Amino acid sequence: MSRIHLSKADVTEVEEHYLLDAVRSGWVAPLGPHVDAFEAEIAARVGVTHALALASGTSALHLGLLELGAGPGTAVIVPSMTFAASAMPVVYTGAEPVFVDALRGDGNVDPGLLMEAIDTLQAEGTRVVAAMSVDLFGRCAEYDQIVPGLQERGIPLIEDAAEALGAAYHGRPAGSFGAAAVFSFNGNKILTTSGGGMLLSNDPDLIARARYLSTQARQPVDHYEHTEVGYNYRLSNLLAAVGRAQLSRFDGMLARRRAIRQMYVDGLSDLPGVSFLGRDDESRGDDEDNCWLTCIVLDPAVTKVSPPQLIAALAGEDIEARRLWKPMHLQPVFAETRSFVNGQSGQLFDRGVTLPSGSALQDDEIERVLKVLKTTLAVAR
Ligand SMILES: Cc1ncc(COP(=O)(O)O)c(C=O)c1O
Repeated sequence: MSRIHLSKADVTEVEEHYLLDAVRSGWVAPLGPHVDAFEAEIAARVGVTHALALASGTSALHLGLLELGAGPGTAVIVPSMTFAASAMPVVYTGAEPVFVDALRGDGNVDPGLLMEAIDTLQAEGTRVVAAMSVDLFGRCAEYDQIVPGLQERGIPLIEDAAEALGAAYHGRPAGSFGAAAVFSFNGNKILTTSGGGMLLSNDPDLIARARYLSTQARQPVDHYEHTEVGYNYRLSNLLAAVGRAQLSRFDGMLARRRAIRQMYVDGLSDLPGVSFLGRDDESRGDDEDNCWLTCIVLDPAVTKVSPPQLIAALAGEDIEARRLWKPMHLQPVFAETRSFVNGQSGQLFDRGVTLPSGSALQDDEIERVLKVLKTTLAVAR
């Protein structure tokens, strides 16, 4: 029996073919035709006019934040329930992150608390330059409330859609909300370049400046001239080729993640005390969620099994599962950071487990996971 991973890269001979093409073309550099085409193809898919391919989602967030004015003496609102890479780039800029807690149903940022945080900080005289949303585990945040609330307050949105390529909110694609948005193409994501990311915006100047900063802030003259500090953040042409191969297969990979979610839902429906993160809102069907990772939430009043116990049982059968993100306001590195907490993200961390969800997983592998889940959760009731 082979090991079942959480979200292993789904690569085929299509990726091999594109990669070989890039190597043979001689464009073995952080620029080239595959980079240009990858930017254009992702932008078209998301319905945004401009895109910049970068070395990681983290570097895309860094540049996006800089462009929105994050720096010393400013604050940026960040959802607490996320991977640390949402918050770290805020610190790189010299700005202070301020964390906001989550909605119980899907773990995305609580829009009411987000607005409360901005109003409180502004009333105290803090310069809030941007608010970040995270489309958690591939499910969009509540943009019907977030977008108008931020517009009213004149605060630009940066959308961390690192996990959410292919997701949508009431028909509008993830990555199209806000002044700037970010995707990650890390090895565990729904579409991967092994490592990589992208910054998207409808503002050509924002992307042009980020492009300039991403190439060491070189002035457009015939010698090496620099008037400010830049970064080396571009994506390799080889990796962009892999990304384009993945994009050519993307609809199939997306459908497979959704089919895997459905297998879990069908397989666990009669287990009391088990619910699925992000399935509480009838108006937002699974077809809008990219189902990057399927997460279950265990109700301690009904099942005695804890997330660590369940993860250990799965590990015993060579199956990888993990806890949900540990909220940023509970992280030692951010112990001194201001936060607006309602308890929901902490509860999801205590109760949630992410299940193997990679699009290369076969039905018999999901059955193997389901068998362990059912036996473990049934025994302890
Ligand atoms: C929510 C979120 N933001 C940002 C990132 C950072 O992306 P990357 O790993 O490409 O730097 C990730 C994933 O790693 C993520 O899950």
